Amino acid sequence: MKVLLTGGAGFIGRNLVEAYLKRGDQVVVVDRKAADTEFEWLSECTVYGEDIRTEAFIEIVNKEKPDLINHHAAQIDVQSAIKDPLNDASINILGTINVLEACRTVPGCRLIYPSSAAIYGTPEYLGVDEEHPIRPLSMYGISKYNPEEYIRIYAALYGIPYTIFRYANVYGRYQDPKGEGGVICVLMNSALKKQLFTIFGDGEQTRDFVHVSDIVEANLLASDESYNDVFNISTGKATSLLETIDLMEQVAGFQLEKQIKEERKGDIKHSYLTNHKAKAQMGWTPHMDIKKGLGETYSFYQ
Ligand SMILES: NC(=O)c1ccc[n+]([C@@H]2O[C@H](COP(=O)([O-])OP(=O)(O)OC[C@H]3O[C@@H](n4cnc5c(N)ncnc54)[C@H](O)[C@@H]3O)[C@@H](O)[C@H]2O)c1
Repeated sequence: MKVLLTGGAGFIGRNLVEAYLKRGDQVVVVDRKAADTEFEWLSECTVYGEDIRTEAFIEIVNKEKPDLINHHAAQIDVQSAIKDPLNDASINILGTINVLEACRTVPGCRLIYPSSAAIYGTPEYLGVDEEHPIRPLSMYGISKYNPEEYIRIYAALYGIPYTIFRYANVYGRYQDPKGEGGVICVLMNSALKKQLFTIFGDGEQTRDFVHVSDIVEANLLASDESYNDVFNISTGKATSLLETIDLMEQVAGFQLEKQIKEERKGDIKHSYLTNHKAKAQMGWTPHMDIKKGLGETYSFYQ
């Protein structure tokens, strides 16, 4: 299969590149930072350091004629979205429309789109299922949700087969600390560099941390078959920050130096997503428990 992966030079993208290559797929990466020389690990792929919003991107898709576009390129930083909502919307909304425009020019080309738990906002109930109201608390949440509707309309108009995922907080190898699942990365950095770790609030806040290997697994399933539907991809479990710190300390083998600061305004207190739908309809299930996942990630960074 020929897969065109947007955002292939990023955190989840790099994990996907490795998985696709491992199973013998032909991989084309389009990522505007992929032209940098540090990305020599992309040498087995065809690489375009292009922006997804350009006419050139449509030409690339027309030339490569992929069986699947796996669209992971995005502006992912919540704070940047607040500071520069035009840029956020331009990449995440207009960028995805351009990806859809390109996709419809290649007959039979399928699409995977990763949305986010950020679209749900403050949970009205736990665990959050796919029917939960959409009430984003940030521009990023809006710009991740809006393309879901475009995808549904493009699918209805042009018959593009698609799968939409809503990831919980993803963590694992190749992650940049600025990402959405960043707290685990910050914890990793504190452990590796023996730096002070700041707990905002009482540390009882919970998140649903899903390991990138489980994200990859869901993507591989949806690469072989389009489900034309939307699925939470999550562990279905809430883990508190204090529990996560405790597990991190067990993995590292020493106590972290910690400080407590006031709770940050706007932070969601508790969140986890159910994964029943992905289990029932895709046969997907998460395999990595958090302690093992933290251990694997810590060894990788070491
Ligand atoms: N990391 C998470 O916890 C998480 C959670 C929910 C959803 N997601 C979604 O998963 C996807 C991948 O996230 P990630 O954490 O790997 O992010 P990342 O920032 O590591 O990777 C995104 C990549 O997209 C590229 N990119 C950005 N704008 C581009 C543009 N205009 N043209 C071409 N390339 C561009 C970047 O260079 C980067 O390599 C995103 O769509 C994100 O919204 C991530």
